[in-house]
Amino acid sequence: MKRIGLILLLMLLTLCGCSRENAAQPAETGAWSDIVVGFSQLGAESSWRIANTESIRKAAEDYGYGLMMDNANQKQDRQIDAIRSFIAYRVDVIVFSPIVEGGWDHVLKEAAKAEIPVILVDRMIETEDEDLYTAYVGADFYLEGQKAGRYLKAKADAMGAEHLNIVEISGTIDSTPMRDRHAGFMDAISDDPRLTVLESVSGDFLRSKGAECMRQLLNTYDSKDIDVIYSHNDSMTLGIMDVLEERGIRPGEDIIMISVDGEKAAVDALREGRINCIVQCNPHLGEDVMKLVRDLKAGLSVPKISHPFEAVFSDLDDTKEVEGF
Ligand code: AHR
Repeated sequence: MKRIGLILLLMLLTLCGCSRENAAQPAETGAWSDIVVGFSQLGAESSWRIANTESIRKAAEDYGYGLMMDNANQKQDRQIDAIRSFIAYRVDVIVFSPIVEGGWDHVLKEAAKAEIPVILVDRMIETEDEDLYTAYVGADFYLEGQKAGRYLKAKADAMGAEHLNIVEISGTIDSTPMRDRHAGFMDAISDDPRLTVLESVSGDFLRSKGAECMRQLLNTYDSKDIDVIYSHNDSMTLGIMDVLEERGIRPGEDIIMISVDGEKAAVDALREGRINCIVQCNPHLGEDVMKLVRDLKAGLSVPKISHPFEAVFSDLDDTKEVEGF
């Protein structure tokens, strides 16, 4: 019965532009191979996101699971539509990365009614009913923000700085990493009178918007008045650096650059002294997600929250061994 359903599902997916990655035989994962996972990815805005999508695709393949995958191109409505189609196809587990925190309760109640467990990956939702999702796998973004703030305090000590003006370029408004990286950073620096945030603007996690924000900031402020840029991801940081370098401003020397993620181009820039600190955000969440799928289908209880290991790479430490994704 499930096989006929799968054939229909493949036909429908082709029609609606979704794709079902073909499942290989499970390796040594102990997985059940007729399981189908519906995965709604929020977009492809950054190298982080592309690495994350590939990690989930690869893990599903390793576990021998069918994967219905839809990329929502940064649109919440499209994610809601994808989740509805996963419910209609009666997938075994729904996995999704919510672009923003609010607005999911309605569709998740539909999933609950259909008795399909939901795993949140990468980002969290805001809900009054925590039972609407079974588990969350992703970073502790508040801790990431705190790590960025702690680095800045240590850097200010190392420089003997009396005062530093900061601009923050944040990610997508109302997304978990935007909210929590901001809150963690502010909490970490709030007791340090040397540190002042001049302005916080959103670059939507995009390289092009990071560059646009920087151009606007340089219309408002003299570059000599900006001592620190705290950017919520590497894609925006690379765009910001393009603009600074076009204007003859040396990122990493004239302005302290703090970034988040750890993609290869940013790690190279860290080694070249053009970025001062990268707070790592680990995109390789696929294995942890598929383990949860396996355990759920085996009737085991699973942890509600799992965070991957994440480090901090900076000019205050040795960066020789650091590897980007
Ligand atoms: O949610 C994780 C964030 O989303 C990453 O830091 C960023 O690069 C991505 O777009």
